[in-house]
Amino acid sequence: MKITKICCIGAGYVGGPTMAVIAQKCPHIQVTVVDLNEQRIQAWNDPNTDNIPIYEPGLSEIVAEARGRNLFFSTNVEKAIEEAQVIFISVNTPTKTYGKGKGMAADLKYIELCARQIAKVAKDNKIVVEKSTLPVRTAEAIKSILDNTGNGVQFQILSNPEFLAEGTAVTDLLNPDRILIGGDTTPEGEDAIEALVEVYSNWVDRDKILTTNVWSSELSKLTANAFLAQRISSINAMSELCEKTGADVNEVARAIGMDSRIGPKFLKSSVGFGGSCFQKDILNLVYIAKSYGLNEVADYWEQVIIMNDHQKRRFSSNIVQTLYNTVADKKIAFLGWAFKKDTNDTRESAAIYVADDLINEQAKISVYDPKVGRNKILNDLDYLETRSAEVNSNAIVTFDNAYAACENAHAIAVLTEWDEFITYDWKKIYDSMQKPAFVFDGRNILNAKELTQIGFVYQGIGS
Ligand code: UDX
Ligand code: ADP
Repeated sequence: MKITKICCIGAGYVGGPTMAVIAQKCPHIQVTVVDLNEQRIQAWNDPNTDNIPIYEPGLSEIVAEARGRNLFFSTNVEKAIEEAQVIFISVNTPTKTYGKGKGMAADLKYIELCARQIAKVAKDNKIVVEKSTLPVRTAEAIKSILDNTGNGVQFQILSNPEFLAEGTAVTDLLNPDRILIGGDTTPEGEDAIEALVEVYSNWVDRDKILTTNVWSSELSKLTANAFLAQRISSINAMSELCEKTGADVNEVARAIGMDSRIGPKFLKSSVGFGGSCFQKDILNLVYIAKSYGLNEVADYWEQVIIMNDHQKRRFSSNIVQTLYNTVADKKIAFLGWAFKKDTNDTRESAAIYVADDLINEQAKISVYDPKVGRNKILNDLDYLETRSAEVNSNAIVTFDNAYAACENAHAIAVLTEWDEFITYDWKKIYDSMQKPAFVFDGRNILNAKELTQIGFVYQGIGS
């Protein structure tokens, strides 16, 4: 089958960038991205592509090139489903907040709604691709809904997990380490796999496109994220030991990373990993393992989350302890709120939890993030339901530049590794602060020696 029409349900951090790149690289394919959220679609269609709802370096240029040519954003979900040969499902799959599996299992209600809608609308055979990260065997559930509620047409379900990382989504999509496509081992399944392989082979070498069965593909995505997160928790565990023993975690990471069996990536000690994937996927893995009675497997992976929570809490307790055991009414300046640099995404960002702890201690927090505004910050805190929205709102002041955020502060906490933080005039910041002026560098990005010379009391992670 030659693919000429693709639809993607969900115009979020995964669907938006992925479809933009497919459209750019495959001008012969019409790509329509649909979402229920009208505001989001409106923003994707904003004449000025700098206003698209997701910030990713290089993305607005790609949207500018392809939009209106063969890339479309729309709220007309049914029309797009009906016309497409391939339907990607890229809706959100948050951790369940209710019922069985609360706090652990993935909430599949959005996926199920998509499947039911596809079944209702489809009048000819379709390939349905799961793009969102999903628990193993979700494809089976989707298939069952499609086959039992559809109009008698044939559906092939493929798993094609996304491995892009936010902040580098465009380069990851343009030069992926691999593309993974899982499908049925029947002739029809193999045809569907081949059709999708052909789409990607417009810009990805065929030897980087792996095909597997559906379950292997689904589990590989969870496994990749679990391994990556586990490396961060491992180095973060060593960071605490380094602080006690006088070793420097950056030196340890460099030394072990040069072992080609270990490799240098994902060994940066930090205030803790965030993002929409790592925690959710590991919890999901833990839930699946437990549901099969594999308690040791579940406990093993759960420890990655326990360590990460500990790292975030340790960071905030250290601030309180260092500031003479009280931060009540003290101004603490946060540099960064996003879960990593070069993104406006804040989901599960360590900053949220550090702020929550410090507000419990009655600190006043001033925040500057180059891409995150006040509303998102307050929403993140309100979502935790620790206290009233009013109290959160009174505890947080936001600024549109770092110098103002740091003025009169007792301490600065670096929560995101934005490049611009490194190049600030730190003497000027020092002069405007309360003394002693503390810096807690949760990303180990600042020049410790230079800051100490200026007069700061500097503390990084793991040294
Ligand atoms: C991750 C996976 O990398 C990606 O393949 C998958 O598709 C989605 O989940 P993402 O969450 O966007 O991507 O970003 P990633 O670069 O993995 O960073 C996750 C978190 O770990 C961030 O908070 C980051 O700051 C932190 N991190 C990363 C560290 O603390 N240390 C490191 O060495 C690397
Ligand atoms: P991700 O990081 O996985 O891309 P996001 O939350 O950024 O997650 O994006 C998911 C998008 O999917 C949201 O914009 C949401 O409105 C959309 N969505 C969820 N369910 C449906 C549905 N049934 N039909 C269309 N869009 C949906």
